Amino acid sequence: MKVLITGGKGALGRALCSKFEGAYCPSHGEMDITDPKAVDKIISKYNPDVLIHTAAVVGVRECEDDKEKAWNTNVEGTQNIINSLKKLNNNCYLIYISTACVFAGEKEKYYTEKDAPSPKNYYSFTKACGEIAARQYQNACIIRTNFAPKGQWKYPKAFTDRFGTYLFPENIAQAISEVIGKKEKGIIHIAGDKRMSMHELALLAGSKNTGKMTLDEYKGPPVTVDMSLSTKRWKKYKIN
Ligand SMILES: NC(=O)c1ccc[n+]([C@@H]2O[C@H](COP(=O)([O-])OP(=O)(O)OC[C@H]3O[C@@H](n4cnc5c(N)ncnc54)[C@H](OP(=O)(O)O)[C@@H]3O)[C@@H](O)[C@H]2O)c1
Repeated sequence: MKVLITGGKGALGRALCSKFEGAYCPSHGEMDITDPKAVDKIISKYNPDVLIHTAAVVGVRECEDDKEKAWNTNVEGTQNIINSLKKLNNNCYLIYISTACVFAGEKEKYYTEKDAPSPKNYYSFTKACGEIAARQYQNACIIRTNFAPKGQWKYPKAFTDRFGTYLFPENIAQAISEVIGKKEKGIIHIAGDKRMSMHELALLAGSKNTGKMTLDEYKGPPVTVDMSLSTKRWKKYKIN
């Protein structure tokens, strides 16, 4: 099985490239997904059986500040990949990585695959639009999930009042290999079996020196407060 992974240098992409030994993981420089010709060239040359699309602009502030870049990457970039896959004519299986942040998350709800997205910011909006693009490709699975890499937390502090059913990228890579094994289609939530705050997640990731903060101190674009997911289609995973 020939697997191509976009965004292979990213937090999730690295775990996927380790999990899928021998997968082709073109760098951003080799295959800029905003460039349809580059996408066509790499995809037609490699002719994948499975393409896992993780590449995206993921910073909430970055997306808000540069909407054009966010749109071109997260929506048009996804469409470019789909256009190239359609030209292959080999029915390549596509996994599109989406996020729990497509939901409003104003209360503890545990969203399932049946719930309606309601993005709070431009990043989430582009991820939801990317989902719609992926739904136009008949052999696709949209995976909504939520994670942070193990190790040092990205910021000095983490929220004690934002929650999710988080996993580590390695857990998600394992789950994705199981989804690929069954060639599931439509939307699947890959969720951890425990709801926790971002601060609890930071500690679990091994970032013991991460300070605590609350949304009262936060100045920035609106964010999803409770990103907890449930699933009607799949099993839940233990974070480890
Ligand atoms: N992190 C989360 O909390 C989270 C939660 C749920 C879902 N997700 C989704 O999971 C996926 C991976 O997220 P992540 O946290 O692993 O992101 P990440 O660490 O920021 O990695 C994103 C990757 O995409 C690449 N990329 C960006 N623009 C590109 C372009 N135009 N062409 C080709 N590659 C490009 C980046 O390359 P450069 O660094 O070279 O630009 C990077 O390798 C995303 O689709 C995200 O929406 C993330």
